[in-house]
Amino acid sequence: MPTRSQAPTTRPEAADDTPVLRIDSLNTAFQTRFGPVEVVNDASLTVHAGESVAVVGESGSGKSVTALSVMGLLESTGEVTHGSIRLRDRELVGLSNRAYRAVRGRDVGMIFQDPTTCLDPVYTIGHQVTQAIRVHADRGRRAARERAVELLTMVGIPDPASRMSAYPHELSGGQRQRVMIAIALACGPDLLIADEPTTALDVTVQAQILDLLRRTRRELGTALLLITHDLAVVSEVAERVVVMYAGQVVEQGPVADVLTAPRHPYTAALLRSVPPAVTDRSTRLRVIEGTVPSPHTMPDGCRFAPRCAHVMDRCVTEQPPLVAAPDGRDRRSRCWLADTDTPPAGSAPGTRATTEVPR
Ligand SMILES: Nc1ncnc2c1ncn2[C@@H]1O[C@H](COP(=O)(O)OP(=O)(O)OP(=O)(O)O)[C@@H](O)[C@H]1O
Ligand code: SF4
Ligand SMILES: [Mg+2]
Repeated sequence: MPTRSQAPTTRPEAADDTPVLRIDSLNTAFQTRFGPVEVVNDASLTVHAGESVAVVGESGSGKSVTALSVMGLLESTGEVTHGSIRLRDRELVGLSNRAYRAVRGRDVGMIFQDPTTCLDPVYTIGHQVTQAIRVHADRGRRAARERAVELLTMVGIPDPASRMSAYPHELSGGQRQRVMIAIALACGPDLLIADEPTTALDVTVQAQILDLLRRTRRELGTALLLITHDLAVVSEVAERVVVMYAGQVVEQGPVADVLTAPRHPYTAALLRSVPPAVTDRSTRLRVIEGTVPSPHTMPDGCRFAPRCAHVMDRCVTEQPPLVAAPDGRDRRSRCWLADTDTPPAGSAPGTRATTEVPR
């Protein structure tokens, strides 16, 4: 794999430990026929250089909207209404579309669950990877094609020189995902955002793509923000995890700590819903009773209160802030129990034994 110094961009590296990505108090809203709805509220997270951070949460918790807010790719009805998104020392909120186009690909690349949304069916993959290189790098056509072959080799496309002339429909799903990763890495971005990159793939190909993402990080130093609903993927790939619920970050910290000793009752419930090893039939799964509240009818207090086994009077009326854990470790949670030493991971009467798994 080529080293980071061979990446085609020449911008200076940041000398300090400024995070590659820093999101502070982000609110994102959409105009709908029922009026404006805020679907991300007070979201904050950071990704440091070369770090791998996973974002998890049930369907509809705001993971993709957060990523699209970073990329400036919200639909025309969506808008960042509050907060800050900084890539290194550059503020992205308020950038013009033109300025955003310069940032995308060069500073941050994104891969999606479905590669067909990004790959143009009428152009060969060679053309598409070459174009991605030439958008930001001052390379001639020939040099860009050579670099494209290098990138396709790096992401594991077999016989890359001849596959350059293939069209997207001639590749398998896993190969299309590899091409999309090659395009996202074409200009050596500091940060790669991957939104459910393996969900549509079979298990073997999933493992190969996750391995590719891990290698990319290790060998190119690219930081990774990985969105997934799969806690097994989190523990395999990430160092830190951010848990989202109903548009808010409810817990974050080192993966090993959060997955073994969750501080937020939602994280604890999510963990109890994870299937054990397929061979272990002794553990029964528990779904989280109830559903994620609609953005139109968010509870006044804690958003998890209607489903929480530890709910108190205060939870129903007052919204808890995201605060650091009292033990001083790199952990935060949004729960009125956060400043006590009561771990919420014990038995939860609000959950029931079942074999269903929430998404
Ligand atoms: N264009 C839109 N207009 C209005 N609401 C939207 C729009 N896009 C997303 N939403 C709403 O924003 C909320 C968050 O959606 P988002 O796609 O970020 O969820 P997610 O966590 O990525 O879920 P999943 O795991 O299913 O991908 C949802 O309630 C969704 O209905
Ligand atoms: S604030 Fe209250 S309702 Fe919300 S998660 Fe904590 S204990 Fe449960
Ligand atoms: Mg999503």
